[in-house]
Amino acid sequence: MASVREAVESAVVEPTDLIWMNGEFVAWEDATVHVLTHGLHYGTGVFEGIRCYDSELGPAVFRNAEHMERLLRSAELYYMPVPYSSEALQAAARELVARNGLRSCYIRPIVYRGYGSMGLNPMDAPTDVTIACWEWATYLGEEGMRNGIRAKVSSWRRISPDSLIPHAKASGQYLNNVLAKVESMKAGYQEAILLDDHGHVCEGTGENIYMLAGGEIVTPGHHNSILDGITRRSIMQIAADLGYQVSERNIARAELYLADEVFMSGTAAELVPVVEVDDHKIGTGQPGEVTRLLQSAFDDAIHGRSECYREWLDVVHPVDLETPAGDAPAPAGSVQTTAAG
Ligand SMILES: Cc1ncc(COP(=O)(O)O)c(C=O)c1O
Repeated sequence: MASVREAVESAVVEPTDLIWMNGEFVAWEDATVHVLTHGLHYGTGVFEGIRCYDSELGPAVFRNAEHMERLLRSAELYYMPVPYSSEALQAAARELVARNGLRSCYIRPIVYRGYGSMGLNPMDAPTDVTIACWEWATYLGEEGMRNGIRAKVSSWRRISPDSLIPHAKASGQYLNNVLAKVESMKAGYQEAILLDDHGHVCEGTGENIYMLAGGEIVTPGHHNSILDGITRRSIMQIAADLGYQVSERNIARAELYLADEVFMSGTAAELVPVVEVDDHKIGTGQPGEVTRLLQSAFDDAIHGRSECYREWLDVVHPVDLETPAGDAPAPAGSVQTTAAG
């Protein structure tokens, strides 16, 4: 089983050459913000986590369009105007990966209220947009992917739709996830499972959750305050294509303990088996057969080995490095992007 130490070590950021900031490529070390940035004080930001895989078709951004569209939806929910289209952001992400010379990496776009005004009305603060990428091994560790992780149901409940917006991937909302994550790690587990405000199973701190019970794959629904995971959509599609019945419904905490298999999915964590919940062994205490099958089918999809899921891959072509079409000359130390607009 994965150790807590391994899970911590796998979160280190590895610098690359360039970061995309408001339409320009700037050196990694110059991609800084003012200490009075609004988002730093009030959490007024929305972000995405995307992966680019070294696929059979070349480096490919997994479901780039879906991620950028969710980013724009999150921004809209928090009244943030974004001066870039989804297509422009997708192109910027591809170009960033190409310019950094990476074949596989994690991509982190963020839209945030910047420097210029303070107070709880964010409307006068500028909206800044950046995209960074770096090489990031699997979030919960190779060992966790292989042999499964131990999870603990958190004493913290997932944010309620009465107070915040579970559908948005918003920076300030993640204090909830941080509390749950720290609690679980201090207690010696790799991940937390949060219940929703009604006490039903919701999700992990950065992953959706599923169980296999009675031969059926069951996962909490949108009414359970989940984030609408893009990996979740992919796993549900793959599972259905493999002939499994997939249901979205309320799951009681004890149903997890009694399940035949439990697993989680997310961009950072990918598909990870959960072999213990609150010290109850799940099934045999080893990653289950269906979990393994889905893990392998997902791995084929992200690496371009499955013809039917190739549309999920946005291939980074050398063309993404072609001469930029921007009008303005690039300021010193930066390269103008083709993606503004
Ligand atoms: C709270 C939360 N739930 C679920 C997920 C999984 O979503 P996705 O598969 O889109 O990465 C994430 C990760 O983005 C998350 O932060």
